Amino acid sequence: MNGLQLIATGGALPERTVTNEDLSRMVDTSDEWITTRTGIRTRHYCGDAENAATLAISAARQALERSGLAPEDIACCVCATLSAPDATPSVACQVQRALHLPEGCPALDVNAACSGFVYGAAVARGLLATLGGAYALVIGCEALSRLIDPADRSTCVLFGDGAGAAVFALSDEDAPFAVTLGARGDDAIHAGGPDRKGSAPITMDGKAVFRFAVDALPRSLNKILQETGLTLDDLDWVVCHQANSRIIDHCVKHLNADASKFYKNMDRHGNTSAASIPVALNELAETGKLKPGQKVACVGFGGGLTWGGILFGYKGD
Ligand code: UT7
Repeated sequence: MNGLQLIATGGALPERTVTNEDLSRMVDTSDEWITTRTGIRTRHYCGDAENAATLAISAARQALERSGLAPEDIACCVCATLSAPDATPSVACQVQRALHLPEGCPALDVNAACSGFVYGAAVARGLLATLGGAYALVIGCEALSRLIDPADRSTCVLFGDGAGAAVFALSDEDAPFAVTLGARGDDAIHAGGPDRKGSAPITMDGKAVFRFAVDALPRSLNKILQETGLTLDDLDWVVCHQANSRIIDHCVKHLNADASKFYKNMDRHGNTSAASIPVALNELAETGKLKPGQKVACVGFGGGLTWGGILFGYKGD
């Protein structure tokens, strides 16, 4: 069972959409600045009744339904988030309860910021290999609108809310698998926890993080390709963390790659940290662009600092 297969996906986005024009009425910014520097046009913000856990439950429910599996088939539930509404129960435990996953199914949250989904998928695969079981539910969810300073134009224009979920299976069929993960403790991206009494919104040294990202992204991608003996030509999709269109463009150019394989949706959702990769995977699957048998690489980078890449096959639901 050396391979990893994506079986089904789900997604959930808050109804409220915030445009660049909306933000330009709140801070000194413009649609032109935001689109040129980031590629972002709109993002979603949670309403009063929504949070990272409610979005996670909706996305996970959809992925489980589409997988055709029963709740008892799920052997572990891992949720990646940095904006959980509660310290405990974790979002993963809230999903476990809502979806009636079996009590023997370990459920835990992982915080690796924007690399969270890749870390979460790696943790889930490790749990399946260690504890046994065939299927894992992996979720990325965020309510970053609750962590931003709405008066800080350098960050408030970037982030949005959302959730994506994926059911993965260990596979001995033709599915590939490789993973790389890394971390370098650094405050370049910071958001306060309970000790900060809720008064430390997200701050980011954008230029330093940009330099880090354009190095970490191709390095992680090359590492998982080397491990599998595959080349970029063998991949059907590369799903990167959706922080900034220019970071992906830079990577495509550096690798002399086919830009059409690098999925982008930050124009509609902004940067949703741990949710960005599974939201993108779900869009690819829902629109039929992701086809059974295809090979996918996902690459995350961001707060921590953390980075990671994972390569798997798509079975399809
Ligand atoms: O998800 C985790 C990973 N995150 C990332 O990968 C993000 C990486 N960084 C970036 O994507 C970019 O650095 C940003 C999009 C965050 C910023 O773009 P930049 O080209 O690095 O701009 P900058 O921060 O150097 O700011 C340039 C100018 C500054 O004005 P001065 O000093 O040149 O007069 C800023 O004050 O743009 C100003 N500025 C803005 N102007 C209008 C900053 N934010 C805004 C804004 N609207 N929203």
